[in-house]
Amino acid sequence: MKFFVDTANLDQIREAYDLGILDGVTTNPSLMAKEGIVGQQNILDHYVNICNIVGSGDVSAEVISTDFEGIIREGQILSELHNNIVVKVPMIKEGVKAIKYFSDKGIRTNCTLIFSPGQAILAAKAGATYISPFIGRLDDIHLDGINLIEQIVHIYGNYAFETEILAASIRNPLHIVKCAEAGADVVTCPLPSILGLLKHPLTDAGLAQFLADHKKANG
Ligand code: G3P
Repeated sequence: MKFFVDTANLDQIREAYDLGILDGVTTNPSLMAKEGIVGQQNILDHYVNICNIVGSGDVSAEVISTDFEGIIREGQILSELHNNIVVKVPMIKEGVKAIKYFSDKGIRTNCTLIFSPGQAILAAKAGATYISPFIGRLDDIHLDGINLIEQIVHIYGNYAFETEILAASIRNPLHIVKCAEAGADVVTCPLPSILGLLKHPLTDAGLAQFLADHKKANG
C-alpha cells in the first residue's frame, strides 16, 4: 500500500519524505487555501515546489472548474507543470467526460469526492488513474467509510479495473490499518495520522526498561 500525505504544507511534506515512507501527495482547494496559497501563478508555483520535494511520487492537483471545457483547460495546464502531476477532477458528469478525454490523451487523473460504489464504477470506466473515496466524511454521517473501500476493492477485482483506490479523508491511524486490511492501493493521510502508527505504550515501556537495564549494568 502506498502512503500519500494529504496536505499542501511544505514542512509536513518534507517531514513525511524524510521519514522515508512518502509515495506521493494529494492536495485540494481547501488545503491550498489553508496554507494561504492564493492567485493562479502562486498556486501553480506551489505545485511545482511540492513536486520538487516528493521526487518520483505522484502529486494530485485539483481543478476548480465544473464545466467540461474549463476542466480540460485547467487540467492541461496542471499536467504540463511537472511529470508527476495527476489532475484531480470531481465526480460530476462533466468530470467523468473530462477523465475520459484525459485518459485518451495519456494524462493521469484522480477522480475525487467518491462516496458510492456506483461513482467508483463510472470513474474506472472513464479511465481514471486513481479514485478518492472519502472515508472520514462518510463516518461523519454515520455511514461506514471502510465498507465502501471493501465494496470497491471487490468490484474492481471482478473486472480487473486498473484504477487505483486511493482512500482519502483519513482521520486516524486505525483508518490506515483498516484500509490496508480492505486492500486499498493508496492511503492519503494527514501527517499526524501517519505518525500515530508509530505509537504503542508497550514500545515506550519496553524501550525505557532496556535503557534503564543498560544503565544499571554499565553505570
Ligand atoms: O483528500 C481529501 C481529504 O483532504 C478530505 O479530508 O478530512 O477534509 O474529510 P477531510
